[in-house]
Formats: sequence, structure tokens, C-alpha cells
Amino acid sequence: MEQRRIVLGVTGGIAAYKTPELVRTLRRGGAAVRCAMTPAAGEFVAPLVLQTVSGEPVRTGLFDRVEEGAIDHVALADWADLLIVAPATANTLAKLAHGLADDVVSTVALATQAPLLVAPAMNVNMWRHPATQSNLATLRQRGVRVVGPETGALACGWEGEGRMAEPAAIAAAAALVGGPRPLAGEVVLVTAGGTREPVDAVRFLGNRSSGKMGFAVAGEAARRGAEVVLVAGPSALPTPAGVRRLDVETAQEMREAVLGELPRATIAVMAAAVADFRAARPEIRKIRKEDLPSEETLTLELVRNPDILAEICRHERRPVVVGFAAESQDLVETARRKLARKGCDLLVANDIAREGSGFDSDTNAVVFVWPGGEVEELPSLPKTEVAALLLDRVAKLRGGDG
Ligand code: CTP
Repeated sequence: MEQRRIVLGVTGGIAAYKTPELVRTLRRGGAAVRCAMTPAAGEFVAPLVLQTVSGEPVRTGLFDRVEEGAIDHVALADWADLLIVAPATANTLAKLAHGLADDVVSTVALATQAPLLVAPAMNVNMWRHPATQSNLATLRQRGVRVVGPETGALACGWEGEGRMAEPAAIAAAAALVGGPRPLAGEVVLVTAGGTREPVDAVRFLGNRSSGKMGFAVAGEAARRGAEVVLVAGPSALPTPAGVRRLDVETAQEMREAVLGELPRATIAVMAAAVADFRAARPEIRKIRKEDLPSEETLTLELVRNPDILAEICRHERRPVVVGFAAESQDLVETARRKLARKGCDLLVANDIAREGSGFDSDTNAVVFVWPGGEVEELPSLPKTEVAALLLDRVAKLRGGDG
């Protein structure tokens, strides 16, 4: 955010009370921030608050002689290298979609050449209204970025989508706008985390995958400008900025989600630890010891789960596919065999026996294994850096430069 010049347009929703925090977050990141607000926004947050936290005069009206004399609205529009409208009400989204300019925020939006990021906030029914959705589609088509809204309790008393994204999420989305975007145009599908296979009403078979590696790949791909879909097994990790997340539990649900997204994907990174087996007959009720033939042993019959990675590799029009392999012995040899068996374009193998590598660790020591048999051994690195190096390689496979 260093050196960024951001105009924050505040419009009239209750979430406007969070905008002073947004200004502070953007400034902490190194950005200069100037605020413009609609008259309705002034009902929810005082201009003096935004002026104090931004350290800049605030524009409130289009025709105020003093304000217009200090910095006119076109100069403000020209100064910006990013315009954020937060909160963006349904009314403002409609104006932005149709090019109306009857207040200082919509006028700056029409006059600026800077990219636009909007953070919608409204009642759930206003959000779902076809008029709002069609305005949003128009804006998206024009390249406008949208962050949120989130789902939860709304100030109007309803539950549902409509809460403005938190200031930190808006700032993270802003950081993605305007930077270098070497993966722009790519659609990256990532699987992450472990699956859970139900045994009975309360128990499941699972594994120790944290999802950190896949989440790091998803976040890095979004930072590089890709459209990213993250299919995640149960994980408490926050969704990286700019990433669409589909939560799943079982391998079969993961397969469905992956196959649903596959036709649009140009790159697939399969970092999930998918359970190879599931219970053949999961009990709907809880298994009680007293119902068992013997209280000392329990035999579970397991059946194979579909191998999602191998399946997508067999698809006729398949994306560039990266697989992962967690091994505890003969790392390179096993990885080479696995790559050949599954048919992916690159295999990322990691030695789970090594210190600072594998499950739940923030670092990973991996080896890239290529179809020709070549290997590229990396030292133990933060998973975010492994993700960056991986995407450099994948971009080359796609014919770009990462
Ligand atoms: N994978 C998958 N679907 C499965 C199992 C695995 O998509 N049902 C993917 C993982 O996401 C990972 C790769 O396949 O990218 C490696 O999986 P792994 O379980 O290590 O491979 P296996 O062939 O099952 O080998 P092993 O016998 O070592 O478990």
C-alpha cells in the first residue's frame, strides 16, 4: 500500500460507522487517503471524524464553494489511483452502474480513471433484489472489484447477506487492485485441507492436514490477479482476500465441487489431503458399545474414495494440473511413480518426516518433480513462499512469466 493514493467514498448506510477504522487500516499500510461522502453518509459518521483520521480535508458536497475551491471534484478524481466506495448502498451501486452523478461520490466515480472497489452493505432483500444483482453484474463486467458483503445479523433486524466486509478485508482487497497481475485471466482451482469421512452420527475418519499450503496457494494466486476458487475441507483458516471458497466435508463432496468448477479452470492445484477410504456403511445413529458383537474390537469396512486428482488428469480438456504427495520414505522415487500414475503436470512432494515440513507447520520443505523425471529440491521455506515458487512454475507451464 506504500505510495497508494486512495479516495474513500462513503455512502449512507449504518456500516459507515466502520469507515474511520478502514481509513486507519489503509493509512497503517502506507496509503494516503482522502474521503468524500454523500449527505446521507453524514448521518452515520461525522465528517470531522474522517477528516481527523485521514489527516486530509473531507469532501461532503458537490457545490460547496469552500470545498470545491480547496480541491475540486475532478482534481480529487485525478489524484486517486484507487477509489473505494464503502459502504456502497444499493442506491449508490445503481448510480455507479448507470453512470449517474448527483453527489460527490458518484461524480468522482464517473470522473476518475482509477480502478474501483466497492464494499456493498444493505438489507438482505435489497441485496438479493434482481435490480441490485443486475447492477452488480454490470459493474463486475466493467472490471469493478467487489468485496463482501458478509452474511450475519443485519442492523435492520434481518439475518443474511448484507453486512459490509470488515475494514481489514476491504484493505486486503484494495491491496490486490492495481498491483502487477501476471495471472490475470487465469481461473485457478485449489483444493485444501483434509476431508472427513463419517463413521456414525458423531465420528469421522480424518487426517492432520491443516489446509495451510492450499490456502497459501489460493491467496497468492489471487494476489497475482487470478480468479480463484478454493474447495476446502473443514478448516478454521480465514478465506484469503479475493478468493471464492466452497466448503466441503467428504471426498465425494470435494469431487462434486471440483468437477463443477473444472470446466472454467485453467489451472488446478490439488493440495487437499483427501481420505483414500471411507466407511462402507456409515451409521446414521451413534454406534454404542453395547450394540456391538464384542465390546473389545470393532471392525470397520472401508471402501475406496474416488481419486479426484487422477480423474481430472484424465479429462479431455483439462487445465494444467499440480498434485501433491506427502511421503515418509523414498521421497523422490515414490513421488516419481505417483506422478506417472496420476498423470499430472507437476508434483509437489514433501517429506513429512522432516522437521519444519508437512502437516500444520507454517513451513514446508518440498521437492518439485516433473514428468521427465527431473527434480528441483527446495530448502525449508514458509508455505507462502512455496506457493509463490509453485505459481512461478505453473505460469511457465501456461506460457506466462509468473
Ligand atoms: N488426491 C485426490 N483424491 C484422492 C486422493 C488423493 O485428489 N482420493 C490427490 C491429493 O490432493 C494430492 C495427491 O492426490 O494432490 C496425492 O495423494 P496421495 O493420497 O498421497 O496419493 P495416493 O496415490 O493415494 O498414494 P498413497 O498410497 O501414498 O496414499
